[in-house]
Formats: sequence, structure tokens, C-alpha cells
Amino acid sequence: MSANEIQTVAVLGAGTMGNGIAHVFARAGYRVILRDVEQRFLERGLETVTKNLDREIKKGKLAETERANVLARISLVTDMPAIATADFVVEAVPEKIEIKRAVLTEADSVLGPDAIIASNTSSIAMTTLAAMTKRADRFVGMHFMNPVPMMLLVEVIRALQTSDATFSTTINLAEKLGKKPVAVNDAPGFVSNRVLMPLINEAAYCVLEGVATAEAVDAVMKTGMNHPMGPLELADFIGLDVCVDIMHVLQEGLGDPKYRACPLLKKYVAAGWLGKKSGRGFYTYQP
Ligand SMILES: NC(=O)c1ccc[n+]([C@@H]2O[C@H](COP(=O)([O-])OP(=O)(O)OC[C@H]3O[C@@H](n4cnc5c(N)ncnc54)[C@H](O)[C@@H]3O)[C@@H](O)[C@H]2O)c1
Repeated sequence: MSANEIQTVAVLGAGTMGNGIAHVFARAGYRVILRDVEQRFLERGLETVTKNLDREIKKGKLAETERANVLARISLVTDMPAIATADFVVEAVPEKIEIKRAVLTEADSVLGPDAIIASNTSSIAMTTLAAMTKRADRFVGMHFMNPVPMMLLVEVIRALQTSDATFSTTINLAEKLGKKPVAVNDAPGFVSNRVLMPLINEAAYCVLEGVATAEAVDAVMKTGMNHPMGPLELADFIGLDVCVDIMHVLQEGLGDPKYRACPLLKKYVAAGWLGKKSGRGFYTYQP
């Protein structure tokens, strides 16, 4: 299926990433079927979409009259068979392989033969996920960045089985959303986390070894390297537990001890200091 033929997109999971993905597709004119396991998660997701649309209106990026049209294009469903008419699916359920397997096999069984399934996983091998379906050639990675409506990058990841047609459709689709797709082959951490996570990990080592405070490490990277956020500020935003999990994926997948997670990150996670979401990480946050 070419990108021009795609009209209906299903998004599986209405959490942090899923509601952002639903937002950008609906804004670009696609009919969106947003699926989660409970109605309250769907309503919370739609509330976030509404707030983010209002923010775009305030910034002059979207006409006020468009808000209702964008929202009307999103339908909320809890049953998997309700996604059957989708031409393209983006999976954004929690980063647990057994949840992904259950969701992908069920989606695969209800979709039409030409539909493409994309996963937004940040660390599970696309090749493994593709093999869970009976449409491995029509399976691809579409790794959006958080917050989805604001971030331009989409890593489009080619699983071993992904066909050329599926890959080029996905690149074109990301362009139609106004995003900047970058082609990447399936490998642990893809490019984004392969490069970013060791940076964050090394920044944590600097704090652990007393080279500098978290504030000083972030100041060096912001003022000296022009990074808009310091690596430790960014780690707090991503979640320190997520950072540790991704370091484990890199270490296991690439087999090099240079990817071992910094003990300070692990200690913070053990203390429940997960970053912004828990109110404390390298920095403290108001509830
Ligand atoms: N948060 C990020 O910064 C980020 C960035 C890039 C990629 N990702 C990836 O995106 C995916 C989703 O992450 P998230 O942060 O949005 O997670 P999240 O926990 O915020 O949202 C996941 C949603 O999936 C729902 N869900 C659970 N089981 C489901 C099912 N069977 N069917 C449909 N929905 C189901 C949950 O109720 C929840 O609403 C993960 O694979 C993650 O690695 C996350």
C-alpha cells in the first residue's frame, strides 16, 4: 500500500506516545482509531490531545476552527476488532515484550491483508516483533520522539523482514505528517538511544565520581555544546528507570561492557527516584 492510499490509522495505546501519535495523524487529516484497554485511559489520552491542540492554537500553529475537526477525526475504542478497517497501525503499548506479543498477534489477526503494522518501541528488536506477526514484510519501526507533536524526528527502522515497499511507504507517511524521517537499520537502541544513552550514562558517572555536580555537568553540555537540555535534565525527563532498561538492552545486545549502566542511576531507581515523574531524580520537581 502506498502512503497516498492510507486513510485510516489505528494507534494502539493512548499513553504518553500513543496520544501524541494520534494527535499528529489526526492533525494531518487521517481518520484515527485510538485503542486502549479501558475507556478511562482513552479519555485521559484525548484530554491530553485537546490540551496540546489548545497550546498549538495559542502559538498560532493551528487555526482555532480546526480544533473540532481534528478531534472529530479521532474515535476511541477498547475492542481490537474495531481497528479492522485501518490501513496503517502504530503500536505504542508498554515496553514489555509479552504485552507487545499479545497486542501484535491480535491486531495482525483482525487487519486486512495489505495493512502495515509499525511499532514505536524504543528498545525491542524490530526483527523480533515482526516475527510475531504473519505479515513480517509489512512490519516496520516508526520511532517517534517525545513529545510527539513537537519533535520532528521519526526514526524509520527496517526489520530484517521489512519489504522495500513497506519501508518507502512509511518514510512517505512520516513526511506527510510534517516529520523528518531518518532511515535506520534494526540494531540495539537504533541510532537515537545508541548515542544518547551512553551520553547520559557518562554524565551520571561524572556525578558518581565527583567530577562535577549534576548542575555543572548539564551547564557544560548546554553552554559549551549547545545542547538545549543537559543530559541529566533529559534523563530525569525520560525516566531514570527507562534509561537503565535501555542501557541493559545495549549491553545485552552489543555485548560490550562499555554499556554497563552507571551504579548511580541504578541506585536512584532503587530509591524510587525516577526523575520528573516521581518528583525526584538528579533534580527535584514540584508535584
Ligand atoms: N515515553 C517516551 O519517551 C517514549 C519515547 C519513544 C518511544 N517510546 C515507546 O513507546 C511505547 C509506549 O510508551 P509510553 O511511554 O507511551 O507508555 P505509556 O505507559 O504512557 O502508555 C502505554 C499505554 O498502552 C496501554 N495499553 C496497555 N496494554 C494495552 C493493550 N493490550 N492494548 C492497547 N493499549 C494498551 C496502557 O493502558 C497505556 O495507556 C513503548 O514501547 C516505549 O518504549 C516511549
